[in-house]
Amino acid sequence: MAESKRVVVIGLGYVGLPLAAALAKTVETWGLDIDAGRVGELGRGHDRTGELTAEQLAATPLRFTTDPAACPPADFYIVTVPTPVDAENKPDLSIVIAATRTVAGMLQAGRKPIVVYESTVYPGVTEELCGPELERLTGLTCGVDFFLAYSPERINPGDREHTVDRITKVVSGQTPEVLDKVSDLYGAVTSGGVFRATSIKVAEAAKVIENAQRDINIAFMNEITRVFARMDVSVWDVLAAAGTKWNFLKFEPGLVGGHCIGVDPYYLAHRAQELGVQADVILAGRGVNDDMARWIAQEIHFRRGERAGTALVLGLAFKPDVPDLRNSKVADLAGALGQLGHQVTVYDPLVDAGAALHEYGIALDPLALDRHYDTVVLAVPHRVLIEAGLDRIFGATAPGGLLVDLKNVISPDRRQAASVEVWTL
Ligand SMILES: NC(=O)c1ccc[n+]([C@@H]2O[C@H](COP(=O)([O-])OP(=O)(O)OC[C@H]3O[C@@H](n4cnc5c(N)ncnc54)[C@H](O)[C@@H]3O)[C@@H](O)[C@H]2O)c1
Repeated sequence: MAESKRVVVIGLGYVGLPLAAALAKTVETWGLDIDAGRVGELGRGHDRTGELTAEQLAATPLRFTTDPAACPPADFYIVTVPTPVDAENKPDLSIVIAATRTVAGMLQAGRKPIVVYESTVYPGVTEELCGPELERLTGLTCGVDFFLAYSPERINPGDREHTVDRITKVVSGQTPEVLDKVSDLYGAVTSGGVFRATSIKVAEAAKVIENAQRDINIAFMNEITRVFARMDVSVWDVLAAAGTKWNFLKFEPGLVGGHCIGVDPYYLAHRAQELGVQADVILAGRGVNDDMARWIAQEIHFRRGERAGTALVLGLAFKPDVPDLRNSKVADLAGALGQLGHQVTVYDPLVDAGAALHEYGIALDPLALDRHYDTVVLAVPHRVLIEAGLDRIFGATAPGGLLVDLKNVISPDRRQAASVEVWTL
C-alpha cells in the first residue's frame, strides 16, 4: 500500500464503484456520493448495479461517505458522475459541474492535488469548463496549485471479461509529471496497462468517438435490417455470410439505449455544431437508432395482421444481464405497441420493479410468464431468462401467436420446429 497517497472517487455508480474498489487495493481510497441511499446500501454490502458482490464489498478497505468534509485531503480526486443529455439531446454538464464544486471544497494547494475526470464529455470540458470553475471557486491556480487529468472509463457493465482491472486505461495529464503520476496510479490496478494520450483533449475525444463509432455501426445494421425486411431476407443470414470476409466489421442490429452509446454521440455532435461543423453522419446514426423501437413495433403489428392483442415484452433493461434501465429503448417499444392498441405486459427478472414504475410507469409482472399472449417479444435475452428455458417462452406464446426474437438467440432448427410463428429482425 502506497501510504502517502490518497484518492477520493466522486460518484459511486456503475463506473465509480468498481474503480474505487480496484484503487482501494493499492492506495487509501474514499468513495463519495451524494445519494445517501446508495452509500447506505454499499455500507450494508449491497450493490444494486451488480458490479460488486457482497463478498467483494465486505473485503474492500474502501470507505464510503456522503460528506466531503469527512474525506481527508487527497492527492487525486476522480470524478465519475453521470453526463446525460437534456430533452433536446444537448449535453447536460450540470452534474459534472456540481461534482467539480464539491471537489473545489476539498482542494488544498499544499498537496498539489490532481483532479481526474472520468465522465464521458466532449473535448475541452476538462480544461475549458472544469479547470476554470475550480480556479474560480478556490482562488487557486490551475497548473500551479492543482492539476487536471482525464482518463476515460471503458468498462462495459455486466461484462465480466473487460473489467476495470483488465482493460487498457487511456490516461492524460496537464503536464508530463501529472501524466506520470496518473499513469502510475492506474497502471497499478490494471493488467491491461495504460496508454498515454498526447493531451487531455485527445483522451476526451478518444472516448467519445469509441462510442460514436459503435453507434454509427449499429445504425448501419439497423438501416440494412429495414431494407432487407422489405425483401424478405433475414439480416442475420446476410451477416453470417458477409462475416466470413476478413475485414467485415461484426456488428448487430438492435435497440441502442443506456447511458453511453445512445448519448455520447450527441456530446460530440453538439460541440461540432458549436464550432460550425455539421456532424451529419453522427446525427444520422442517432436518428436511425432512436427510431428503431417504433419501427419494430410497427413490424410486429403488421405481422399480427394489424390486429391488436395481448403482448408480453421480455426484458426491460437496456441490454442483457444488467438491471440498468437508463434510456431503455424497450420501454419505447412497449409504449409503441401500446399505442398500436396492444395490451402490453412487461417482465424482467433483473430490474427493480419500483425503478421501472418510477422511470417509465411500467408495472413489471413477476408472474407474466405463467400466462399466454398473442405476441411474445424476447427483447432482452438475459442469461437467466434463457437458462430458465426457451420452452417457457414458447409456452407463453398462444397457439397462432407470434414470438419475436429480437437478438436472434433462437436457433434456426428450433424456429422451424416451432408451432408458432417466430420472427427475428
Ligand atoms: N455505465 C457505463 O457503462 C459507462 C461506461 C463508461 C463510461 N461511463 C461514463 O461514466 C460516467 C458515470 O456513469 P455511471 O454509469 O457510473 O453513472 P451512475 O449513474 O451509475 O453513477 C453516478 C453516481 O454519481 C452520483 N452522483 C451524482 N452527482 C454527484 C455529485 N455531485 N457528487 C457525488 N456523487 C454524485 C450518483 O448518486 C451515482 O451514484 C458517465 O459520464 C458515463 O458516461 C459510463
